[in-house]
Amino acid sequence: MASGGKPWFLVFVLLFVFELQILVDGEPQVPCYFIYGDSLADNGNNNALLSLAKSNFPPYGIDFVDGPTGRFTNGRTTSDIIGELLGFTDFIPPFATARGQDILRGVNYASGGGGIRAETGRNVGGRISFDLQLLHHGITVSRITALQRNLTFTREYLSKCIYTVGMGSNDYINNYFMPQSYPTSARFTPDQYAAVLIQQYSQQLRTLYNYGARKVVIFGLGLIGCTPAELATFGTNGTACVDMINNAVQLFNNRLEPLVDDFNRNLGDARFTYINITGISAGDPSSAGITVLNTPCCNVTTTTGLCIPNQAPCSNRNTYAFWDAFHSTEIINVLAATRAYNASSPSDAYPVDIRTLAQLQ
Ligand SMILES: *[C@@H]1O[C@H](CO)[C@@H](O)[C@H](O)[C@H]1NC(C)=O
Ligand SMILES: *[C@@H]1O[C@H](CO)[C@@H](O)[C@H](O)[C@H]1NC(C)=O
Ligand SMILES: *[C@@H]1O[C@H](CO)[C@@H](O)[C@H](O)[C@H]1NC(C)=O
Ligand SMILES: *[C@@H]1O[C@H](CO)[C@@H](O)[C@H](O)[C@H]1NC(C)=O
Ligand SMILES: *[C@@H]1O[C@H](CO)[C@@H](O)[C@H](O)[C@H]1NC(C)=O
Repeated sequence: MASGGKPWFLVFVLLFVFELQILVDGEPQVPCYFIYGDSLADNGNNNALLSLAKSNFPPYGIDFVDGPTGRFTNGRTTSDIIGELLGFTDFIPPFATARGQDILRGVNYASGGGGIRAETGRNVGGRISFDLQLLHHGITVSRITALQRNLTFTREYLSKCIYTVGMGSNDYINNYFMPQSYPTSARFTPDQYAAVLIQQYSQQLRTLYNYGARKVVIFGLGLIGCTPAELATFGTNGTACVDMINNAVQLFNNRLEPLVDDFNRNLGDARFTYINITGISAGDPSSAGITVLNTPCCNVTTTTGLCIPNQAPCSNRNTYAFWDAFHSTEIINVLAATRAYNASSPSDAYPVDIRTLAQLQ
């Protein structure tokens, strides 16, 4: 009987070791995750640039494991949290500092101030436009190809990855709604502007597809007219938000679902999906304890809307929607990432949420 117990013990030990193995180095749901965007996703790409769009100083990162890193929030960005939900154990590195084998898990190209249009964000100085982010991705693809030494394998590998793109906010904030610095609002009606932005975005997303991206997530723009910075600049005129801005941005968002349909119909194996950030952020967050909706948690400068360096922020950060005058707190980012990954309403994602996208063959 004693010898009969041993195999069971062995099986138990093996199972236990096997389970530990899964916990310790469980594989992510996709081999890699690439991130394109602006300050909402930047994780350090602007640190070495001569730019007003920088955040690598306290109180930024006060709730982040590595402190201030160039993330424009108190803790993790929405992209950081999506990476965790996809099963990545490390944060995806910024292009500016990613080296060696690390790029096989993905790269983050996002840059504060960057836009769809090349001139967007000129007022902040250094920033990396979507065109330049795509150029950087071309460099990464060459590096991955050299590391893997098998073109067929690399092509298949890149087609399994998740790519998230969130561009356009600065084309409104640091372009169209800055008429003293940019001529676009004199040249285009809001509807025409949405059309020319989408035209250019469509070309850029095709470039991404041509680099081998197949599972592409396009983030819609948030309620820019509700940010403390825009409220301070334009005034509310009796409403809760600057409706003129939200209405213009909605014209852009309205064109993203048709764009996704177009790609999925006309590009082979394309699996694009749209995340309805406006819809996700429209609900009342007070049920989640977020009760301060129009005041930044940190003290901000009126010129940039960013936190004044080295001043203590509010202590009850989980009750604030805004960290500075433009950017959401980590708790809002958790809510947005959670619903983008696992939709809680059919209007959150179209046609599928990120969890479903990751599983598609
Ligand atoms: C290259 O990758 C493909 C796809 O994974 C594989 O079938 C093939 O055997 C690989 N070729 C070499 C030389 O390793
Ligand atoms: C303010 O509201 C009034 C009445 O709704 C409207 O006529 C006017 O255009 C608004 N002004 C701005 C700047 O939005
Ligand atoms: C986004 O969600 C809102 C609210 O759930 C919904 O009204 C809207 O039609 C959705 N779609 C787009 C493209 O914004
Ligand atoms: C923010 O600025 C105000 C006014 O300048 C100051 O009284 C307050 O102490 C500052 N807050 C923090 C947390 O430093
Ligand atoms: C997805 O969200 C629902 C609630 O909306 C929850 O019940 C479910 O456990 C979640 N699934 C995953 C895999 O996170």
